[in-house]
Amino acid sequence: MKKRILAALLSSAMVVTLLAGCGGAAAPAASSDGAAATGSAAGAKVGVSMPTKDLQRWNQDGANMEAELKAAGFDVDLQYASNDVQTQVSQVENMISSGCSVVVIAAIEGSSLGEALDMAKEANIPVIAYDRLIMNHDAVSYYATFDNYKVGTVQGTYVKDTLDLDNAAGPFNIEFTAGDPGDNNAGFFFNGAYDVLKPYIESGKLNVVSGQKTFEEVATPTWGSDVAQKRAEDILSSYYADGTQLDVWLCSNDSTALGVETALAANYTGKYPIITGQDCDIENTKNMIAGKQSMSVFKDTRTLASQVVKMVGQILNGQTVDVNDTTTYDNGVKVVPSFLCDPVFADANNYKEILIDSGYYTEDQLK
Ligand code: BGC
Repeated sequence: MKKRILAALLSSAMVVTLLAGCGGAAAPAASSDGAAATGSAAGAKVGVSMPTKDLQRWNQDGANMEAELKAAGFDVDLQYASNDVQTQVSQVENMISSGCSVVVIAAIEGSSLGEALDMAKEANIPVIAYDRLIMNHDAVSYYATFDNYKVGTVQGTYVKDTLDLDNAAGPFNIEFTAGDPGDNNAGFFFNGAYDVLKPYIESGKLNVVSGQKTFEEVATPTWGSDVAQKRAEDILSSYYADGTQLDVWLCSNDSTALGVETALAANYTGKYPIITGQDCDIENTKNMIAGKQSMSVFKDTRTLASQVVKMVGQILNGQTVDVNDTTTYDNGVKVVPSFLCDPVFADANNYKEILIDSGYYTEDQLK
């Protein structure tokens, strides 16, 4: 059955590819940045597979992608996979068998999409990894994301500067909470932050009281707030219940920061620590305003969506695809040509400018 669908697809995909390949001559003039669907690309259907509706950012990513693709003249098949790998595999397979010319995937688990990727490869359908790299498969054509290592260095540098680690006597107590081991980004975030702080940990100016400082020890499967909260509660009751001061909890993103903030509210009465995050989710931005989270890293999902829509247009119009990194993202089989957008530091002092003035949120959403 699958074979027959594939055979049918292969012929139609080959037509698309051939047309796209000679788009320069046959297609009407494409827009200068390739974002618009022109020539053979006009009306092409693009599959967008998002991991879950549970976290705010993926809803925004999906909505932005859908709106921008439609505005560029593409048809869109947008699916959310409820954080279930098998659901995501089936959804991507359906996208391919129902005629999508390109699929854009934000993977739940970077290494578990094998069957769907085999199908994309056989049908000659380009795959764009969205935000999270898809691992161990050569069917991944391009990757668009934010500079993930830089997200971590922004967090680590904030801690270093706020505690004035080069001059202050210290020592300061710190704990770490990282992301999902199944998400290739999580290691980049953690390493970016840890690399900034490592000299101070080694010199004893920063003291990891729980002793948990490897990525494996501090990771948060599924990025769940509840998972992060449970681990934070365990650490607080084991190491801080005697009144030990906690100076920093470095969290890789906002969903984990939220779990840590909930744990602190019920289990810690000392001086409130520095807490880092990423995404500027609404709840976390409210917490920044209320002094319960120190900073976040803003990754404007509108920028990422525009970049990916541009990539889709360039692929389907047979143009050169814009990338700005061809060395960093090795998925185990190939180095995937990538476009890295720039993450931006956010805190209670600049949130109005970057989140409200830019139209990302309304003032009311943050009340
Ligand atoms: C994204 C982060 C997000 C996390 C949890 C990561 O892959 O890059 O922005 O906070 O997943 O959804």
